Amino acid sequence: MKQLLTLCGIVILAGCATAIPFPTDNDTSFAQQRWPHTARTDLHAGRKLYIDKCSGCHSAKPPALYSEKKWNEILPEMNEKAKLQNNEAELLKKYLITMTNHYSSNTSN
Ligand code: HEC
Repeated sequence: MKQLLTLCGIVILAGCATAIPFPTDNDTSFAQQRWPHTARTDLHAGRKLYIDKCSGCHSAKPPALYSEKKWNEILPEMNEKAKLQNNEAELLKKYLITMTNHYSSNTSN
């Protein structure tokens, strides 16, 4: 029974991970057109912040669910709720805006 529960946990975690996509090299190139000094690790840090800080009160929705315009409206309020530092808010924004603009049309890894 315990093993079964562990297995369920793994399946659920895997489900969450696919909904919150990992940034690829393609995504990084896209981000660099906007923010020239962006590294892939910055986008990874943004993704981690999103999962760590933004899934306590509600689930973290796939970034592509909202347009860039909508994220810009939502983020100021939510950054405050999550008590993000300015640099954290910047990394999170880069991740979400890159993924909503780019990921949907990105098929390669
Ligand atoms: C302290 C609890 C809390 C934290 C932490 C939090 N949220 Fe929220 N979030 C809410 C509540 C409550 C709502 C629904 C009411 C509202 O829009 O204020 C919401 C709504 C949302 C929505 C839906 C908005 C819409 O208009 O449909 C999004 C997207 C969202 N949050 C993203 C985030 C992100 C990104 C973070 C991390 C920076 C975050 N949330 C952290 C409480 C939280």
